[in-house]
Amino acid sequence: MKKFAVALLLIAGTATAADQREALLLDFGWKFHFGDAASPADDFGFGSDHAAYAKAGVAPAPAQLKFDDSGWRTLNLPHDWAVELDFVNGDKFPLRSHGYKPIGRQFPKTSIGWYRRTFVVSSEDRGRRLAIKFDGVFRDSIAWLNGHFLGRNASGYSEFTFDVTDYVLFGEKNVLTVRVDATQYEGWFYEGAGIYRHVWLLKCPPLHIPPYGVFVRSEGGKVTITTQIVNDSESPVTATLVSSVIGDNSVSDSVALSPHQEKTVTQSMEISNPQLWSLESPHLYTLVSSIGTDRVESRFGIRTISFDKEKGFFLNGKRVEIKGTCNHQDHAGTGIALPDALQEFRIRRLKEMGANAYRTSHNPPTPELLDICDRSGMLVLDENRLMGSTPELLENLRRLILRDRNHPSVILWSLGNEEWSMQNTDVGAAIARTMKRLQKELDPTRLSTYAADNGDRYEGINSVVDVRGVNYIGRGDIDKYHREHPDQPMVGTEEASAYCTRGVYANDAGRGFMSDYDVNAPDYGATAERWWKFYAERPYLAGAFVWTGFDYRGEPSPYQWPNISSQFGIVDTCGFPKNTFFYYQAWWSDADVLHISPHWNWSDKEGQPIDVWVNSNADSVELFLNGRSLGSKKMERNSHLQWSVPYAAGKLEAKARRSGRLLLAKIETTGAPASIRAVADRVAINADGEDVSVVSITAVDAKNREVPNADNLVHFTIEGSGAMIGVGNGSPASHEPDKFLQGGWQRRLFGGKCQVLVQASRNAGPIVLRASSDGLKDAVLTINAVPAQPRAFVP
Ligand code: GAL
Repeated sequence: MKKFAVALLLIAGTATAADQREALLLDFGWKFHFGDAASPADDFGFGSDHAAYAKAGVAPAPAQLKFDDSGWRTLNLPHDWAVELDFVNGDKFPLRSHGYKPIGRQFPKTSIGWYRRTFVVSSEDRGRRLAIKFDGVFRDSIAWLNGHFLGRNASGYSEFTFDVTDYVLFGEKNVLTVRVDATQYEGWFYEGAGIYRHVWLLKCPPLHIPPYGVFVRSEGGKVTITTQIVNDSESPVTATLVSSVIGDNSVSDSVALSPHQEKTVTQSMEISNPQLWSLESPHLYTLVSSIGTDRVESRFGIRTISFDKEKGFFLNGKRVEIKGTCNHQDHAGTGIALPDALQEFRIRRLKEMGANAYRTSHNPPTPELLDICDRSGMLVLDENRLMGSTPELLENLRRLILRDRNHPSVILWSLGNEEWSMQNTDVGAAIARTMKRLQKELDPTRLSTYAADNGDRYEGINSVVDVRGVNYIGRGDIDKYHREHPDQPMVGTEEASAYCTRGVYANDAGRGFMSDYDVNAPDYGATAERWWKFYAERPYLAGAFVWTGFDYRGEPSPYQWPNISSQFGIVDTCGFPKNTFFYYQAWWSDADVLHISPHWNWSDKEGQPIDVWVNSNADSVELFLNGRSLGSKKMERNSHLQWSVPYAAGKLEAKARRSGRLLLAKIETTGAPASIRAVADRVAINADGEDVSVVSITAVDAKNREVPNADNLVHFTIEGSGAMIGVGNGSPASHEPDKFLQGGWQRRLFGGKCQVLVQASRNAGPIVLRASSDGLKDAVLTINAVPAQPRAFVP
């Protein structure tokens, strides 16, 4: 094994462009049409009667090259067609659990989608390996290239790749067709429908490193790298595998491969002065692996993780309390089809609250989410979907681990969640054992857990996993479990499930709202304050993940229709904070927090007592109504303060001291809405056809104060280098559309707010968003789409 400095290696760049690896985004310019599960003629056949799998290259009509798709809709990925459909009331599962969107066996006309993408492959690509990679399609998809059946993929959460080298027509048009069947479901929450993650065209030389062929492990400064190499050519080759960490050390080995041989090479090197990946400073290293003309970059971090049976979780030898949230991938306006920028927005919001961990409930996440967590210092509990040990289910677990094991943010694998039929059984234990064995084989550096809602039961899955995952202190005596199984570390995989509707202060079954005071939780769950105090007092618990960070569609609770989404979130489906956000922020973050709730617009309650809650991490807080003191109270750790205040219009102020610093907060009675205000999270976004600015819309009174209970209908128009891709307002019971495919964009404010998602085109320039509402002054917001190199894409 030879070692030499990285600077020397960079000179060896004799490869031509055509030899090199490329990953081209295949997201733009797809054609889309509904199929029909009840009518073969309107589905596979589209009028023709070809059998789908009888003869190679003889496919159903829409998979054929000559098929005329000019009448199909044009769209870009990521795409979720379920979110575009009208709501349908009905009490049958899965309609209710999936947010009352007409997907499933009752709705054959809107449960199957066909996608076509035409593209040209240059003749210069002859001789390279070509593959098409789908990061996630919900679900049950079948793919064809130029009429050739490529394969099917069942789970909507697993990525899959087809090597299409043999099928590609060089120098001419190719057509990729995908039939997506969302009739069946995998969850009990909104799961959307369609090609909702990126699609890639991958090109690499015959001598190459296959997908996820690089695994980097570190122990202090010692880095061990395993690299798979494939010689997909007809000749034997001897080449040098060079693994170099940018800015640091490198190592090289000569490898000889016979035709079509695959080899795994293990190398190791020392990193001088290793910079650790931590929450405060998530340092990432880049490993460049090259062999022949192939070159692969892998991001990794150097850090240690461990779970201690008595003291919880340790990162780099320091105890870190897991302050986590569970989240489904679903956002206002987009459904499950989140552009990467929106994932980033969501992680930023959770970090602002002080969260340091994210559970990808209940499935493998979109890969870019993990990149964001790596970059921003967010720990991840990475979850498998369905438990099982058959080839198909183990394959899903294998893909998850191979894909995600280099991410320093991932600290623990979750083999599954609440598998009621088997969690206490021998079958459950046997399946978990097989899964755990595969986990260890693919990634010996991490432990696995399982999100168990069976209280103090040990037999079955809990007896197998390394770390006991607890779903809800309300499900059994956790202290007893710990006493009886003192050698097993424990983490709260799910807690709270508290219900709150943002900005609403009384439960209202008719309208589907729950009070935004921290008072409502199901019997198995707990209010924020109750569960957090429980965990904070027990160092043996490594912390926990709140159900949920963000609200999500489906699983309306505790009410059903008119609710179409859950209200477990600390923030709503747009990411607007509910009040518990400030409870968590007070006790989870380092920020000075002083927050008063509710609002102070109660003209119909003159003289009546209003419950006032103050969330703060100050030492003591004094409250004033219109300048008169209502008394000072001492803040107990992990608590909140409360006053009952007879309502009088005006100003409610809080003054507090935190370690000697003065903190001030106030809420005021506002006048009626006078203008619309639009504020972007980012006023400059990349003109790359993907980036998104998240715009908050509010109504303000004549004195420019946000009117917290405004519910005006707001209309939107947009001009310039961008487009709207979704609107929302966080109401769990709004049946307004999230998208206006024919134009006429609008949304009603809910609790004074709504949100517009603005996506840049690939042309730099201003994007002008106008928001108007009857009788109010318009808001005009300019977002700049700044010149940016788009990711390489297939034209
Ligand atoms: C849990 C389950 C979650 C969600 C939650 C609602 O039991 O794992 O997916 O359903 O309950 O409280």
